Amino acid sequence: MLPDPPNCSFASDNAAGIHPAVLDAITSANLGHALAYGEDEWTRQVETEFNDLFDREVSVLLTLNGTGTNILALATMLQPGESVLCTDWSHINDDEAAAPERVLSTKLISTPSVDGKMSVDSIHARAEALGNIHHAQPGILSITQATEWGTTYSVDEIGELCEVAHSYGMRVHLDGARIANAVAALGLGREGLRKMVVETGIDTISFGGTKNGLMAAEAVIHLTPYPKPLGQHLRKQVNQLGSKMRFVAAQFLAALDDDHWLAWASHANAMAQQLHNGACEILGDAAGPPPAVNSMFPVLPNEAATALRNWCFFWDWNSVTSQHRWMTSWDTTQADVDRFLEGVQLVMSSVGDHN
Ligand SMILES: Cc1ncc(COP(=O)(O)O)c(C=O)c1O
Repeated sequence: MLPDPPNCSFASDNAAGIHPAVLDAITSANLGHALAYGEDEWTRQVETEFNDLFDREVSVLLTLNGTGTNILALATMLQPGESVLCTDWSHINDDEAAAPERVLSTKLISTPSVDGKMSVDSIHARAEALGNIHHAQPGILSITQATEWGTTYSVDEIGELCEVAHSYGMRVHLDGARIANAVAALGLGREGLRKMVVETGIDTISFGGTKNGLMAAEAVIHLTPYPKPLGQHLRKQVNQLGSKMRFVAAQFLAALDDDHWLAWASHANAMAQQLHNGACEILGDAAGPPPAVNSMFPVLPNEAATALRNWCFFWDWNSVTSQHRWMTSWDTTQADVDRFLEGVQLVMSSVGDHN
């Protein structure tokens, strides 16, 4: 009954392959020997590129995966006895197998969220623990941009969260596994990044690459001066020091060149928008709100979700609300979107026929 499935799934940007420009960069870096562990010219160059990107001297620790990057970022920020304030849906709370608690001997204080976003009121409420010797001391606010629910904080919202957190002496970490999608959605190019994270007062970023066409390439970026040797030791301790670092650096060089990172993320965002436009015609309000970035969360009857998922895979997101996640990536095409929508239309009308 259903046609051939699309060429891609709508499961995750993690499911997408490596962008050809990134693969080319890896191949170009594959020349002879270069010193390991970041003592190479590609790593030096990428440090310069990140300084240009943020328009200031930043500290860059290249890393290998998103969870480890968050762990390293938090490791560089935490003091003994401190806790990390985050949302209930945050990746560090929900999807990292308690690695922050285990590896960092810290406590995550998760707080209920709307659309995956932290609120200023939650910071005020949790700050009541400050000074109480029996309570872990909230030392870090961690927010995700774009969030796990595909929403984004506005620049002003981030500014306000940072201001309140800083007023309590907390530092602010941004899990930017999908920071490219969030910056692309602002439509201000590099200036958007600077407004979003520099002017707002973010202290440390987990800067994602893997979800945006790179292969195992992420970075911890400190926007305020950070002692490099300390960061390097911590990176080694949390197993994020890759020996063949030049290949990680080469990937970022390809992504930052001519701001491809923003073009790739913009494309993923645009495909999600197209998907949502078509889904609205079929599902109406059940398509959910328009995507801010590259994911949407439709409500589907179980029977339809199963049939569609067996045809072209995607993840269930919230079993209580019957929401599912459809996610696009740098390589999703309009033809993939059209084919997927064709399937949605067919499945939904056959489910309707049974009713
Ligand atoms: C918001 C967010 N942060 C961090 C990660 C961690 O990435 P990894 O799976 O590479 O550990 C993910 C992965 O999906 C994510 O969605």
